[in-house]
Amino acid sequence: MAMLVRNVRLPDGRQGQDLLVQNGRIAAIGPALAAPEDCVTLDGGDWLLSPPFVDAHFHLDATLSHGLPRVNESGTLLEGIQLWGELKPQLTQEAVVERALRYCDWAVGRGLLAIRSHVDVCDDRLLAVEALLQVREQVRPYLDLQLVAFPQDGLLRSPGALENLKRALDRGVDVVGGIPHHERTMAQGAESVRLLCELAAERGLRVDMHCDESDDPLSRHVESLAFETQRLGLQGRVTGSHLTSMHSMDNYYASKLIALMAESELSAVANPLINITLQGRHDSYPKRRGMTRVPELTAAGIKVAFGHDCVLDPWYSLGSADMLEVAAMGLHVAQMTSREAMRLCFDAVTVNAARILGLEGYGLEPGCQADFVLLQARSPEEAIRLRAARLLVVRRGQVLSRMSCSEARLSLPGRPERVDWSFGAPN
Ligand code: FE2
Repeated sequence: MAMLVRNVRLPDGRQGQDLLVQNGRIAAIGPALAAPEDCVTLDGGDWLLSPPFVDAHFHLDATLSHGLPRVNESGTLLEGIQLWGELKPQLTQEAVVERALRYCDWAVGRGLLAIRSHVDVCDDRLLAVEALLQVREQVRPYLDLQLVAFPQDGLLRSPGALENLKRALDRGVDVVGGIPHHERTMAQGAESVRLLCELAAERGLRVDMHCDESDDPLSRHVESLAFETQRLGLQGRVTGSHLTSMHSMDNYYASKLIALMAESELSAVANPLINITLQGRHDSYPKRRGMTRVPELTAAGIKVAFGHDCVLDPWYSLGSADMLEVAAMGLHVAQMTSREAMRLCFDAVTVNAARILGLEGYGLEPGCQADFVLLQARSPEEAIRLRAARLLVVRRGQVLSRMSCSEARLSLPGRPERVDWSFGAPN
């Protein structure tokens, strides 16, 4: 059946647009489109219609496990890893599946319809891998889940990790992951990057590595990742995630590194909510922000996305699958406050993330998949400012979720009854 959404705004600033869906794809976008027969017509209310949110970096195997078996007291990455290590032997496949499915419900309600999730392979049972493969199948009709084989305890540091990682790929995990900064030495980290990139080249897979997730200004694994990408001809298929040490690097070295990353067509994923809480924990004052150099990477032509990374798990005690919250934190931490920069923050949780995942048919053009979210906002920056309500979430032309407009009713003398949260006409 066809669907016509009348009177919406688009992220590129067009207003008064109708969007026609036929056979699960966008058939046309324009003003005052004619409705075909048997067409469901919806009023877009002059709100912003965006392609769905995409999370380029998440850990679905750990999500919603907050407090199991205890809470991270120090708030550090290392205590989080230790805590996850305590929880791992107690995991059951059913519990991981149940928590992951629950999170995917949250995601759909928030208009988040594609997630790249790392999955820990440092467990001979591959329990989390089996669980998330099951979840990937179960959510396939409504959410794209891409899995990254992630050796959480270190590829070389954890016995059997390389074999387990290969077994995970054999089972159908999509992307090669890594964690070079968690190996025993800088040399071992570089060796892990080499091995993993060679594995990806052999198998024709993408790479997404946790890289230099520390405050160490001398951490050099992004450099190795860029080098191996070029050496093996993996340009355009490799992503460096976190890259927090870049925040602390010497400016001269960073300028050389960013050029090398651009030359290698590396993509970058920052995880603002997690980076701002986990990093800088060894500092007194001033405390470093610990997020990678998003404006500088973007200026060099590098694709940058923002990920949620964690929700209610050993590393982070908050979160609700809200990629607008992620974009807002990224905007603040990177001081991306110009109008253009705020739009880049919106792109970081939509189009840029979709490109990093390599999603087919993503976007708002005729011929694209009819996947979109109607936001109670007039522009992308207003959506970020208001953490806008997701009025309608649609995938392949099917409505997956609806939400009423969020509104406050006042009882004030001489003032309007309803609060209007919009401001000006930003487009
Ligand atoms: Fe991560």
